[in-house]
This record gives sequence, structure tokens and C-alpha cells, in this order.
Amino acid sequence: MRTITVRSPANIAFIKYWGQIDPVIVLPQNESCSMNLSACYTDIEFTKVSDPQIQEMEIREFGHSRYRQSTRDELTKVTIYYERIRTLYRLKEAFGFRIRSVNSFPQKAGIASSASFFSALAYAFMRAFSLSLSTEDLSILARLSGSGSACRSVPDGFVWWKKGHDNASSHAYSFAAPDAWDIVDIVLVLNTAEKQISSIDGHAGALSSPYYLSRQRMLPKIAQQLRAAFEDRAFERFGTLVEQEAMNFHSVLMTQSPPLFYWSGKTIQVLQEVVNLRKTGTACYSTIDAGENVHLICQRESVDRLVRHFKASGLTQTVLVNYPAVGTHEI
Ligand code: DP6
Repeated sequence: MRTITVRSPANIAFIKYWGQIDPVIVLPQNESCSMNLSACYTDIEFTKVSDPQIQEMEIREFGHSRYRQSTRDELTKVTIYYERIRTLYRLKEAFGFRIRSVNSFPQKAGIASSASFFSALAYAFMRAFSLSLSTEDLSILARLSGSGSACRSVPDGFVWWKKGHDNASSHAYSFAAPDAWDIVDIVLVLNTAEKQISSIDGHAGALSSPYYLSRQRMLPKIAQQLRAAFEDRAFERFGTLVEQEAMNFHSVLMTQSPPLFYWSGKTIQVLQEVVNLRKTGTACYSTIDAGENVHLICQRESVDRLVRHFKASGLTQTVLVNYPAVGTHEI
């Protein structure tokens, strides 16, 4: 292998991963599930070079026509991950690399850009080290990057992250193919600025919320109900659970110490508007990851109406329409 190009999607969590049992191996406190996004992905061009001293990365951000050099922090995360894989798999081989990374969507705005980037990178490292891994094992490798949700970008379509009890048992798997249900995730981009507090710092404070343990106790039942609604293709039941789970998750964020207030005034306006739209007969539901931007979950027949509605509202002009997508793959 010399150069390969890998594409990996971001994912939107229907049940959010929040809190870690073991931050070193990124063992989550709870199971989570998500859908891979067709319009939000990272493409990585990875070139393996023989000189281990060469470790370079260029990034082309959303809306930019040129590449920029990665920052020291961005490159450090990659080099730490590279060393981690060598140690974990006891690999003797050392090599250098040149990486070019392009995002189809705004980075660091709560649209899981680290999930798409690190899952793509996990694949590239797997190939560069000539490791032969199953999808489940590749999801474990992606989880070990530090961006836990990256493991859910590896398998296709609708994905479950099994909590597990150790490194080998905490992996992601596809519970339904991309064409299993044609639900849609419309991302309403309200702000593309980098979020102030990273998820890593957020996970660390999760247990300080007085609501965290009750959330943990409720989640197995919610997961069961959500899976049943999915199997029945019962959209209203499914959407209601997804929206309630997102609000439950943000109640924890806002009450942990220090509190995490990701929402803006626009976020609240959208949430209220979604409730109004339901009253007037449009089935759509909101969910929000650790950021300000809102994901609308709807069915295919409502997409045009919703896109028109929100563009006309003046709240956003950047709207990303996502269908369920395949996971990490070479292009
Ligand atoms: C709120 O630790 O995976 O998106 O590394 O920033 O992608 P990043 O975050 P990670 O936590 C994700 C938290 C979440 C919920 C989720 O995707 O399950």
C-alpha cells in the first residue's frame, strides 16, 4: 500500500453516549445507537512513507478551497493514536505518513466530525499496518482513537454500540442496513463556530449531574422501546423517543458541573418550531448532539417542505439532508 483514500460518515446518535467507565480504553457508561449520515463525511487520503520522521497532515475545511497545515494539537492526536496502535497490537513496523483530510460539513460544530475523521483514520492505519480486522474489530480500533462515537461510523446504516465490559467486548455493529428504513436527518446548521468544551471534558463531568444516575437507570428501557419502534417502522413512536432522549441528555449536560450550555436562542426557536410543525401535521422530531445545531428526524415525504420552511424562517441557510449511509470504506 502507498496511498489510499478512505471515506467515513459522521453519525447522529438516537441514544447518546455520555460518560465513561474507563477513559483510557474509552469504555462507555451506556449503550448508544445511531444512523450514519450520507451528506456528512470525511475523506482521508493517506500516504504511507518509509521515513518514520515524516508525520504530516493537511486539512481542507468545509467551505474552503485550499488545504491548510494541521495545527500541532490536531497532528498530536493522530501521532498518539498511531503509537497507541503500535503498542496495543505489538507492531514492530514503523512508518511515516502524509494525510490530507476533507470534510463535507462544518467541523467541530456538534456534527461528529471527530467520529468521521477517526473512523477513516482507523481504517487507513489498519491498511498501513496490514492488519486484517473484522468490522467489529475495526470499530474497536476506531473507539480506541479517543473519539468513542467513531466506532459507530464503521458498520453500515443503523448502528448499535454494545457497551461491553472490557476492550474486546465494547464494539459497534449494524442492526439494520441503510435501506432498512428511509428516515432522514436534516441538519440545520445554526452556527459553524468551534464548540467551547470538548466531549472529552464533558464525559468527565457527567456523573456530577444529579440526573445522571436516573438517566442511566432509564436508558435500557428506552433502548428497548426505541428498537421495537424501529422494528415496527413506527415513525411517530420512534421520533418521540429520539426527541425525549435528546432532551434528557441535555438536561444532564446543563446540570453537570461545570454546566454545558450548548444551545443558543436559535436552537430553542427551532425546537419550538418543530413542536408547532407537529401540531399542524408535519411529523418531525429534534435531536441535538454536543453542539448548537439541530438535527431534524423526518420521513422522505416531509424533506422538501421542511427545508423550505427552515430556509424561509431566516434561522439558517445551511441545511444538510442526510439519508442512512454505509460505514467506513475505501473509495
Ligand atoms: C454527544 O467522545 O465520541 O455526540 O470525540 O467529540 O466525537 P467526539 O465525541 P465523543 O462523544 C460523543 C458524544 C455525543 C453523543 C453521541 O454521539 O453518542
